[in-house]
Amino acid sequence: MKRTIVVVCALLLGAGAVMAQQDIVKERQTLMKANGRSLGGVLGAMAKGDKPYDQAAVDAALNALNDTAKKLPTLFPDSTKGLKAEGDYSASPKIWEDKSGFEAHIASFSKVVTEAKAKIKDLDTLKATAGGIGKECGGCHETFRLKS
Ligand code: HEC
Repeated sequence: MKRTIVVVCALLLGAGAVMAQQDIVKERQTLMKANGRSLGGVLGAMAKGDKPYDQAAVDAALNALNDTAKKLPTLFPDSTKGLKAEGDYSASPKIWEDKSGFEAHIASFSKVVTEAKAKIKDLDTLKATAGGIGKECGGCHETFRLKS
């Protein structure tokens, strides 16, 4: 009887751990979607002239990207390897096979965003800088993101 209880508890704990891992996958997916809005919906849209230049919105978008860059190193623990996100994209196993390569991409993304915060002061500097941020996104996705 006692043994049954122990086994049931272990199973429940196991289920809890899987759910927590799935939450991490969800969190990074949410942050990535926000990345898409910051770059495409704010910075890119202004650079293309679809939206008027707005320094406060630029700063907010860059701060959001910066926060994400700081969180990314903690959001790919080994325990989430192989877990699928809902939707069109998922994390490639290469993230865990080449951890240092992946971390180098995060560091480079972080650096480019920090530099952008210092550089972007008007529409011209935005136009000159936004593409470099996009390259960082694409550079990481090319190797470390899978189309599911
Ligand atoms: C260091 C690597 C890296 C960088 C830099 C990066 N991404 Fe991602 N991105 C990923 C990975 C890995 C996934 C898949 C995540 C998962 O399924 O857990 C992803 C997923 C996404 C998704 C799909 C989200 C969904 O709907 O599931 C979008 C959109 C996205 N990224 C946008 C961006 C944008 C825009 C930038 C740049 C501003 C960016 N990412 C920078 C690695 C990166």
